[in-house]
Amino acid sequence: MAKYLVQKSKPLNGEVIISGSKNAILPIMAAAILTRGKCELFEVPALRDVDVMAKLLRCVGSTVVEDYENSRLEILTEEILAEEAPYELVKKMRASILIMGALLARTGKARVALPGGCAIGARPIDLHLKGFQAMGATITEGHGYVEARAERLVGANIYLDFPSVGATENIIMAASLAQGITILENVAEEPEIVDLANFLNKMGAKIKGAGTDTIKIEGVKELFGTKHAVIPDRIETGTFMVAAAITRGTVLIKNAMPDHVKPIIAKLRECGVVVEYNDESILIKADINPLVSTDVKTLPYPGFPTDMQSQFMSLLATVKGSSTVNETVFENRYMHIGELNRMGANIKIEGRSAVIQGEKTLQGAQVIATDLRAGAALVLAGFMAEGVTEISEIYHIERGYEKFLVKFRKLGATIIRIED
Ligand code: UD1
Repeated sequence: MAKYLVQKSKPLNGEVIISGSKNAILPIMAAAILTRGKCELFEVPALRDVDVMAKLLRCVGSTVVEDYENSRLEILTEEILAEEAPYELVKKMRASILIMGALLARTGKARVALPGGCAIGARPIDLHLKGFQAMGATITEGHGYVEARAERLVGANIYLDFPSVGATENIIMAASLAQGITILENVAEEPEIVDLANFLNKMGAKIKGAGTDTIKIEGVKELFGTKHAVIPDRIETGTFMVAAAITRGTVLIKNAMPDHVKPIIAKLRECGVVVEYNDESILIKADINPLVSTDVKTLPYPGFPTDMQSQFMSLLATVKGSSTVNETVFENRYMHIGELNRMGANIKIEGRSAVIQGEKTLQGAQVIATDLRAGAALVLAGFMAEGVTEISEIYHIERGYEKFLVKFRKLGATIIRIED
């Protein structure tokens, strides 16, 4: 099993270019099977999760060209040959569930093994299934799989109990080819939802309101092939912002969308970090003021993203004073705390909150990346730890960060990948 070895870093310095968004490309790839036409996607990050989704699409009958050198994908799905997402792939990536709405809309049937992915809580899919049911699908749950069938999906009024990102995406895809109008309320407002709706509208769908809490979808008979460039990854952007801050460095982050990372900018400024930005780049200067503690609460967009919670906690562990982090989106997303404490951090869990007593220096240790973002948090902590931090189970990190080590080395970090 491969590992990362991270050394204590000087302040990071230089420029980094952000890749296309993982969480935008995955639903867009699933949506591409809604048409017989060819879809060409640009700004595609070379990630393990993207490759898993490509494999999944091939399983259902798509031809997928993965041209990562040019950050490009081509997807052609003339016929659906199998309406099933097998366990071997679903267990590798929970977002495989996103294929369900598209398969159901195109063929009237979808069978998906129950999902795996990051071990952050129970992560049920009841909201996805309720949405399909409201549109007339019959749901059957068997041992380890779930199946939906519908002769013809019909538009419906659907109110989500919680603004789930995946459920919003799955229902939008299904409703795009349903008969009549779907009104979807209390939906997720994440930029990735807007990107999916933009892609579907280019394919000929009629979706309005993406990015607000109510989305209206007028079903159409057919969708067509199109071309689309995915948005920059706001979580990768946030991770580099926090990396610059934790090392007290100065980093210019290019191909970023400052509008998508407003809560991260706000929290870094509260800590004393100087953040300047224009339309597509963000400058982080963390060497001007002494950094101070702050409190963070994760929320659905436009609140502070749960996917940045662990990286921000690493920063707070290196800032003198007491900070509180309150995770409200997932019920079990504190697995990195044990690992950070192994590195000398002082973090206690109190109910759904974590209380952090910050100290500037951590100690290198052997730690485990328990999920994708927890892994990133350990890399950042490693930059501020004396000696060497050895991170195992890094396949989690490689699921979601393109050229992670290359980008950090360019900023002056010493981090290597070894095969154990
Ligand atoms: C997506 C992101 C993930 C991010 C999360 C929250 C992708 C591929 N992944 O995941 O990186 O951390 O949004 O921003 O885009 N829930 C239910 N029932 C459901 C669905 C969700 O109870 O049917 C709950 C979950 O258990 C969780 C919360 O809703 O507590 C948020 O989940 P959701 O927004 O669905 O996250 P994902 O789409 O899985």
